Amino acid sequence: MKHPDLLLFHGRLLTPPAEAVALGQPLSLEETADGAVVAHRGKIVDVGPTAEVLERTTAGPMTRMIDAQGRAVLPGLVDPHTHMLYAKDRMDEMELRHEGKGYLEILAAGGGILKSMRDFRAADDQELAEGLLSRLKQAVGQGTVAVEVKTGYGLSQAEEMRGLGIIDRVAKLTGLPITPTLLAAHAFPPDTGRAEYLDQCDRTATQAAKAGLAKAVDVFVEDGVFSPAEGRRLLAHARTLGLAARMHADELSPSGGAELAAELAAVSADHLTAATAEGLAQMAAAGVSAVVLPGTSFFLDRPPLMAARVREARLIAALATDSNPGSSPFVSMAWMIALAFHRNRFTWPEALTMATINAAHVLGRDRELGSLTVGKRCSLLVLDEADPRVLVYRPDQAAPWAVVESGRVLIWQGAPTEEVMAWTVS
Ligand code: NIG
Ligand code: FE
Repeated sequence: MKHPDLLLFHGRLLTPPAEAVALGQPLSLEETADGAVVAHRGKIVDVGPTAEVLERTTAGPMTRMIDAQGRAVLPGLVDPHTHMLYAKDRMDEMELRHEGKGYLEILAAGGGILKSMRDFRAADDQELAEGLLSRLKQAVGQGTVAVEVKTGYGLSQAEEMRGLGIIDRVAKLTGLPITPTLLAAHAFPPDTGRAEYLDQCDRTATQAAKAGLAKAVDVFVEDGVFSPAEGRRLLAHARTLGLAARMHADELSPSGGAELAAELAAVSADHLTAATAEGLAQMAAAGVSAVVLPGTSFFLDRPPLMAARVREARLIAALATDSNPGSSPFVSMAWMIALAFHRNRFTWPEALTMATINAAHVLGRDRELGSLTVGKRCSLLVLDEADPRVLVYRPDQAAPWAVVESGRVLIWQGAPTEEVMAWTVS
């Protein structure tokens, strides 16, 4: 390398370790008070105190120089659980819940996920791609550099495959590291018998794996939705295809989801607000990560998964938005970090670790994302302040000063750059 592509200096660098960490011991971020990061071909090639890095680096005429002027520089945020591919909002349902109707009661009456299924099926590819793209732009504007996107509103083989195709199209047009997950088992569609739909989920997983369009299979295991036995069958099949197993587990009632995730050595079990202590301990022993979704507990007004329970089980825990029209219509990981601190009682270094390296671990991307480490993608969140606790203190006023994704500057001085403005579905 003669001249690097990017040199960011005079930043207050804060990073979690290069590998995922189990909670339970006191955590702190490693700080370099006046630090620099050098990127070439999208990757970090040097990082350290500004004075030392400048001595080792020869900037050329094409090197982009960014003087961070003491601002906090963190690894870009990673969102490992979203349902961002959907057609319409569900604001009416939000009001029904206020009047006392339950989330599963609304679903059983043909609303909820099934309302989103009808909206999805009625929408064309263009509309769906535009919706996903606009949510991604918003997320990037809040410091997110990588996301997982699930299907789950098509609920037939053809419609779920259509969803995966749209996710792939948007991943290609943005160049963002998007991890696609097949969630055909999100609800039973009213137009298909139960046994037939389970077979269809397996066939869809096979087709998706062959086409290289999914990295994982997820199942909504919950009383009244998919049983643990059904989850076991679908995820065992996914594993034979080389796909990662993920699970919506114990979100509303203790349904044996955490225990099943442990038995299957799933990559993650997500939600877990109603999980048993025994189930959480089994997950940790089996190396299953926990994905904490504070936006959902907030929006459905349910007790959050408290930090003490996660620490006691010594789980590798990550944070995600669960971005979806029904239970968490949010895209901001900063907002999740704040909720995780205030409601779940994680410390802010824990919350940041959960939103970076541990989130990357859930996506199988811990060697490429989640910390300021040589060899990883140069994906950075530069806050407009020196103190990173603004994310927790006033998340509504913590919009990034800059966001860098694999060496590309996507947000600059608080605004999307021309590159981001040019992302369109054509
Ligand atoms: O993670 N629980 C199941 N799935 C989503 C909600 C999806 C929806 O309501 O549309 C969740 O909360
Ligand atoms: Fe979810």
